[in-house]
Amino acid sequence: MSDRPTTVRPLALVTGAAGLIGHALVADASRWAPDWEVWGVTRDDIDLTQIDQVRAFWHNRRPQLVIHCAGLTRPAHCERDPALARRLNVEVTAYLAELAREIPFVFFSTDLVFDGKKGHYVETDPVNPLNVYAETKAAAERVVLANPKHTVIRPSLTAGRSPTRDRSFVEETRQAWEAGRTLTLFTDEVRCPIPVSATTRAVWELVQKGRAGLYHLAGAEAFSRWEIGQLLARRWPELDAKMVSGSLCDYVGPTRPPDLSLNCEKIQSVLSFRLPSFRNWLAAGVATGEP
Ligand SMILES: NC(=O)c1ccc[n+]([C@@H]2O[C@H](COP(=O)([O-])OP(=O)(O)OC[C@H]3O[C@@H](n4cnc5c(N)ncnc54)[C@H](OP(=O)(O)O)[C@@H]3O)[C@@H](O)[C@H]2O)c1
Repeated sequence: MSDRPTTVRPLALVTGAAGLIGHALVADASRWAPDWEVWGVTRDDIDLTQIDQVRAFWHNRRPQLVIHCAGLTRPAHCERDPALARRLNVEVTAYLAELAREIPFVFFSTDLVFDGKKGHYVETDPVNPLNVYAETKAAAERVVLANPKHTVIRPSLTAGRSPTRDRSFVEETRQAWEAGRTLTLFTDEVRCPIPVSATTRAVWELVQKGRAGLYHLAGAEAFSRWEIGQLLARRWPELDAKMVSGSLCDYVGPTRPPDLSLNCEKIQSVLSFRLPSFRNWLAAGVATGEP
């Protein structure tokens, strides 16, 4: 019989594990966070709006880290049901952050907390959310950042493959083209798309290095929606990629932030790798089959 002590790894809880980012965080943990036992929870495990379920789970498992990815993530859904958006994005986040008051807690916010009038945003720029989704995220950020042990990530558009194949903007674009739809893509709406593999690596590095606070997390290059469409169309020559260019000046509907490019120097100074450009990631995918 070996007298070697058995090491018990601390438990990390990842919410939203059936979604794009939560799923990838769990999948990539063995590579970037081998010291943690990672448990990804989905809505099938716990409905986070049911406080009794959350409390019971918490007291049974006693996690040492929480990465909170779950949320009402589609802006249109939040506009239709603002009460649910506030419940899930603000109140559930606040409840989890309170349970996690003595341990690291990482909350996923969004670049949409800005109004897009300035671009190249730094973490100290004032927020000005333009829709319910963004308002709830900005409100949750304030709650989370009240605890100096806690972290807020503001990701840009995140590319990759989700378990349900319909969550990332890359998947949505592909689906639209496969269905023969024509997309109107704005030449004056700017984003810094980032592959989910870089998101997970960056977040696990922040955790391993014990960094708390507010961080922007985006790809190294800014593109208009039109440019993003052109890059994707070139990546999938087999598809009949139908798109027309448009301008926010002609758009009728809820206000859309024009330039949400993010300055990521703060997180970049912590990371051991360069945040990639979406263009280079797509080009590399030609070899690997991604996306
Ligand atoms: N992906 C992006 O481009 C992007 C950009 C900026 C910010 N973010 C933020 O980053 C975080 C992760 O994004 P994501 O793209 O991974 O989102 P996602 O794919 O929509 O995943 C969100 C997950 O939350 C789960 N969820 C919703 N309500 C729940 C409830 N009551 N109980 C338990 N789970 C519940 C959903 O479960 P179901 O699958 O059952 O619905 C889903 O799996 C989100 O907070 C999002 O706002 C994402």
